[in-house]
Amino acid sequence: MTNEIKTIPIASDHGGYEMKTFLAEKLRAAGYEVVDFGTHSSESVDYPDMIHPLADAVAQRKFPLGIIMCGSGNGAQLAANKHKGVRAALCWNVELARLAREHNDANILSLPGRFIPFDLAWEMVQVFLNTAFAGGRHEKRVQKIEI
Ligand code: RB5
Repeated sequence: MTNEIKTIPIASDHGGYEMKTFLAEKLRAAGYEVVDFGTHSSESVDYPDMIHPLADAVAQRKFPLGIIMCGSGNGAQLAANKHKGVRAALCWNVELARLAREHNDANILSLPGRFIPFDLAWEMVQVFLNTAFAGGRHEKRVQKIEI
């Protein structure tokens, strides 16, 4: 943990449940407080039921950044991005996670729980949480995202 952020909200459906469990343990071991929005088992659920409450909390600035996942990462990202002020980025590697923060000021990282190794996901989470928005030429572009 190298920055100011101490509390991380995390959410998944059943497709991301195993990865969420893994990442929550890693985050706690690294000193973060984890707020787990569910799901809490591998039983089949509908991803919007877990993702919307987390995204709403990020939109209300209760948390600066959040981590979400489902099987593909797509459904979770699509649901999260319905919330004004949320910029959820679906990422598959470390560089994309870094660019999502640096260039897009993404405030939610969406991960494909069934398609990437958990160790890679943890690397991506660490980079996402510890990379600042670069601002500059990206500032105006990010402002133009909201319609
Ligand atoms: C669940 O089977 C799966 O559809 C879901 O986790 C996600 O990939 C949806 O986008």
